[in-house]
Amino acid sequence: MNKKSQIKKIAVMTSGGDSPGMNAAIRAVVRTSVYYEIEITGIYRGYSGLIENDMIEMNARSVSKIINQGGTILKTSRSAEFMTYEGRKKAHDNLVKNKIDALIVIGGDGSFTGALKLYDEFNYPVMGIPGTIDNDLACTDYTLGYDTATNTVIESIDKIRDTANSHNRLFFIEVMGRDAGFIALRTGLATGAISILLPEQDVSIDDLIEILNKNKATRKTSSIVVVAEGDANGGAYNVAKKVKERFSYLETKVTVLGHVQRGGSPSAFDRVMASRMGVKAVEGLLEGYDKHMVGFIKDDIHYCELSKAISGTHPINEELLRISKILSI
Ligand code: F6P
Repeated sequence: MNKKSQIKKIAVMTSGGDSPGMNAAIRAVVRTSVYYEIEITGIYRGYSGLIENDMIEMNARSVSKIINQGGTILKTSRSAEFMTYEGRKKAHDNLVKNKIDALIVIGGDGSFTGALKLYDEFNYPVMGIPGTIDNDLACTDYTLGYDTATNTVIESIDKIRDTANSHNRLFFIEVMGRDAGFIALRTGLATGAISILLPEQDVSIDDLIEILNKNKATRKTSSIVVVAEGDANGGAYNVAKKVKERFSYLETKVTVLGHVQRGGSPSAFDRVMASRMGVKAVEGLLEGYDKHMVGFIKDDIHYCELSKAISGTHPINEELLRISKILSI
């Protein structure tokens, strides 16, 4: 752990996929640094910008009017060069050259794996703020952007349901989440899906056909199935194709929601969590936490070792799955 007095200048970056709430977190980091009279630098395009020394000095006014904006004003990237030792060495040299004492990374597990390498290889202080719509990190109940993304998904599915109802159709809707099913589970429950296909549990095509036949018997005339992109059945198009071969009572359609899920103005929940995390990230560095992430558990912010945060995810909520099965008959 570093001593408080050692930190005079902090840098902040966003890395990996953008997510709503990243700007609110940047704003909180910048303003908290100014509040504690710490110099603050913004690094453009994540680790790529760090390697290329693409940075800007920031002040309280640099982050005006961004709390409500999606995306990230600092831009973001997935850097292949940072995965090499040479890339990380260049990045570290630039931090030292610019007299930056600690780095705050807003991103997901890949970004934190990189941050931890900076700590391990150069003993460089790092702090993570979980920013990804996937919600797939340990040590935190929620990641920034997950709440907004799920609201975007349910708005879209509600609209699709109008067509499903009007035409008596069966829709397979694919949502993001990489290897995790958090977005699918929450949105499937919230939109009344008849089935939710997640990477974390097996729903076979046979199971799905059984559900559809039961629904046919009770004259259900439209249906929504939410498919997580990481589901083992191979995505919504594959599932729809296999189902279509065996079930023709309803016309089948597929929608892949894609990057619409990552955009838009952050929800109240994400803005508040981003603000809290941003403040605590700076305060944590000043207190000496130097290889940690701020996590949000039971409405409280805590510090968790980055190695633990990237070691897996919190488990999916089985109770949500149970409830959704009861309510979708
Ligand atoms: O990690 C966020 C995420 O949106 C995932 O849900 C998705 O699998 C991936 O990023 C898509 O990445 P890209 O925008 O690089 O295609």
